[in-house]
Amino acid sequence: MRLAIGNDHSALAIKAEVVEHLRARGVELVDVGTNSEESFDYAISGYRVGRLVADGEVDGGVLICGTGVGISLAANKVDGVRACVCSEPYSAELSKRHNDSNVICFGARVIGPEMAKCIVDAWMDAEFEGGRHARRVGQIMEIQDTQRLAAAEQ
Ligand code: RB5
Repeated sequence: MRLAIGNDHSALAIKAEVVEHLRARGVELVDVGTNSEESFDYAISGYRVGRLVADGEVDGGVLICGTGVGISLAANKVDGVRACVCSEPYSAELSKRHNDSNVICFGARVIGPEMAKCIVDAWMDAEFEGGRHARRVGQIMEIQDTQRLAAAEQ
């Protein structure tokens, strides 16, 4: 598996632990940064990871900022990205099984490194279930592509 990982200045320490954990699992990583403690705008990393995911250059992405919120908002602006902020493994697992999330996000100021590892493991080990969930994810993509949702207008 090949994943992109990105972060802002608030998340260097937790990213280092997540990177080590993922590499130990045999994951190939594309690190889009930042790797400096200087203030770094989370939208840049969110965009970079989102772009790699949307272009099919990687199988998914991991994004970390202070809360996970800003960086997920940025990634979700790239068409095709479904980035979900999760602070525990249950939501992370369900974000893949039901929502077909392709980017997992969390907050360095919200959770600790051990929880972060549990979250990425739960997310990586889950598979999208399709079926009725495919219809719902399709509706999300319809909103993205058309700014309309036919099912909501009936
Ligand atoms: C940076 O101070 C902080 O705003 C950022 O890491 C993130 O929490 C934004 O959503």
